[in-house]
Order: sequence, then C-alpha cells, then structure tokens
Amino acid sequence: MHLPKGFRLGVATASAQIEGGEVASNWNAFSGAGRIKDGSHVARANRHWEHLAEDVALLEELGIKDYRMSLEWARIEPSAGVFDETALAHYRAELELLKSKGIRPLITFYHFSHPLWFEALGSFTKTDNLRFFLRYVERCLLRLGDLCDTYCTLNEPNVYAVQAYLFKLWPPERSSVRLAVKVMNVFITAHLEAYSLIHRVRREQAWSGTRVSFAHHMRIFEAATTRFRDRQGVRLFDFLFQDGLMRACYKAEFRWPFINHARLPQGQYVDFIAINYYTRDLIRNFKQEVKAGSVTNDLGWEIYPEGLLQCAKKCHDCLPLDIVITENGICDNTDRQRSDYIDRHLEVIALSSLPIKAYYHWCFMDNFEWLEGESARFGLVHCDFETQTRTIKASGRHYAELIAALEDADTQN
Ligand code: BGC
Repeated sequence: MHLPKGFRLGVATASAQIEGGEVASNWNAFSGAGRIKDGSHVARANRHWEHLAEDVALLEELGIKDYRMSLEWARIEPSAGVFDETALAHYRAELELLKSKGIRPLITFYHFSHPLWFEALGSFTKTDNLRFFLRYVERCLLRLGDLCDTYCTLNEPNVYAVQAYLFKLWPPERSSVRLAVKVMNVFITAHLEAYSLIHRVRREQAWSGTRVSFAHHMRIFEAATTRFRDRQGVRLFDFLFQDGLMRACYKAEFRWPFINHARLPQGQYVDFIAINYYTRDLIRNFKQEVKAGSVTNDLGWEIYPEGLLQCAKKCHDCLPLDIVITENGICDNTDRQRSDYIDRHLEVIALSSLPIKAYYHWCFMDNFEWLEGESARFGLVHCDFETQTRTIKASGRHYAELIAALEDADTQN
C-alpha cells in the first residue's frame, strides 16, 4: 500500500470514554442510574486520568505522532461559571507531555459529555445555552491554546441528536423528532460560532497555524430495493442525517428544517474536512438494516471500506478542502479482524486521488463504549478493566509497523 508522502497515522480517544472518575456529567448520572447494557460505569473506564504517563508511554511505544483527544467540560466547569484550575492544569500537563514526546494533539471540545448543570438547563435543546458552551471553549483556549493548533468544535452532532433525542438510547432518553431537529440546529450554531471564536482568540494571542473543523459522522445509506419509496428513504436519511448538517456547518447554507437562528453570514466555517466513518446501512421502508450476508463487526455493523471514499468525495464536493479521517475502527472483541480492517480502509485511501492527509484509528485502547459500556472493544490496546492492565494487541503491533514503514518511506523520498 502506498500512502501519500507526509500521510499521518494517528489514534483517537474521547475524555469520557477513557478518563474515569466521579465527574458530575450526563454520562456519570446515566451510568449511575444503571442504564448501561453491561452494568458498567463510566466512572471506571480506563482511569486514564491517573494512568496518563503510562498511556502516553504506550502511544510512544506504538510510534504514534498524532493523537486526537477531547476535553471533559464537566471536569473543567463542574458548576456553572466555576472553572476548576486543577483540571485545566492537568490538561496542560497532558499537552506538555505529548509535546515533549513529539506527539501532535487534535483537541475536540465536545464529545457527547457535558456538566449536569448544563443538562439541567436543557443543554443543546436551547440556542440561548450556547453562551455557556462558548464561554467554556474560550476559557480552555486561553489556558491551553498555545499547546494545540488543530481543533474539532464538536464530535458527531448528528449521532448525539438522534441517539439522545430520537431513539431514546442515550441521556436524556427522549423520543421527539422536533427536539432532535432542534438539537441539530443548536449544534450547527454552536459549531459556526465556535469556529469564529477559536480563530478570534488565537489571532488575539498571536498563535498561528489554527485549523478548525467538526468531526462529521458519515455513513452510506443505500436503497435495499429499486423501489421509489426506498430511494426516497435514502434521500431523506442522507439529507436529514448528514448532508443538510454538512452544508450548514461548512458554509452556513441552510435548508429547511435547518434554520439559521443566529443569522450568521454564508462563508467558510471549516479549515479541513473531518470525517468519522464506520459503516453502510440499507434503507427499506424508511428503516435501516444491515445488508444480508455482509461481513460485520461484533456489533453487527457492516464492514464496507469503499464507503469511506464515497463519504469523503461527498464532503469534498461540498467544499474542496484537505480531508482528515478523524475516526475509523471496528468493534472486534477478539482482535481477529482489526488488522485486516485497517489495511482495507487504508488501501482505499492509498488508491484515491482525494486529498486525504491523515487517519486517526478509533480507538487507541478498549474503552467505555457508551451504551455498550465495557463490552464492546474497539482498541489497538487491550484493557483489563478490573486490573487496569494494558496490553498491546496484535493489531496494535501491526499499526505500529504501518507507522514505522510510512516514516521510513518519507525519509527515503
Ligand atoms: C463515536 C465514538 C464511539 C465510536 C464507536 C463514534 O460514533 O465518536 O465515541 O466510541 O463511534 O461507536
């Protein structure tokens, strides 16, 4: 496989999924209420907060130079307007440690978890609440911004909106089309405003090289039959779940039911395209299903590497910028399929003419997989959650070899 010169292979994580700890967040409350399928609790996860040095040493051992991580808002601002300087100092130390090892961070400000006080105020169902989110982003930037130049404002607003407000699966377990659309709209404004804010703050501080995007969850929707109804279903899913959101977040171009509440001018609101890609769904009678006979991961999601390029092309057609795959990975509890999964996805990237510049594998280590808790393993590194022992998997060794080969090829050319 010949990945382009300068291509970067990294790994991704999210704060709530790895850090552990008694944090006053929506996911801690949800786990505490016994809502996680396997009965596990987000307060355990990988205890990364305490195992930071060990985990960074593991990144180093794998040869990782690019690390996507997120900040835990509920730790940083446990009560409204009260910022915890110890938490911010911890993240500063983390970023400094990464820097000392030559590892480039990509920070996501919001990856599905937020403070309980924000939840009590209605969180992202209310445009008015965005001032709290923007205040948090600004405080983090002022404290940490000199140590990181690349950011995602939000992770997968579409996934959070439907899981939490339509399918009733994630906190706050609501089932309302109206609310799901509202939350998507508020997220769009959050991204557009945060994009401008991040650039303004970094400009004022004379920090150069700023790059901002949002991690867009893209999947392939394909009609299960040739019937008009199913083709219409695909158009509807495509537009509501991903394309409408993409146009609004990339360019402030709105089409109903997406509404420009903040009356922001059209323009460019991402500096690169960030895609999280996992799978394809067939659409039959306006419902999602998995293609019969397809190869799937342990959660039953189809493995469909070609879809990665179709999604990348769609985003690139919308706005022709450099592309970063901010997540791609597989729930594979026995690690039998992961190396092959990685190879097949990287092969389609290698053969493509699209400007795909980097790939972050999800996930660095087995972690707390939201509703599935500790039962769904996506990691390159195995974690025994009881003993908190980390062991690099065969796929982790394989990924390390790919990174080393890429570096060799770059130095030879
Ligand atoms: C999310 C991750 C999650 C992964 C696997 C993505 O949608 O960003 O937080 O763990 O998928 O389900």
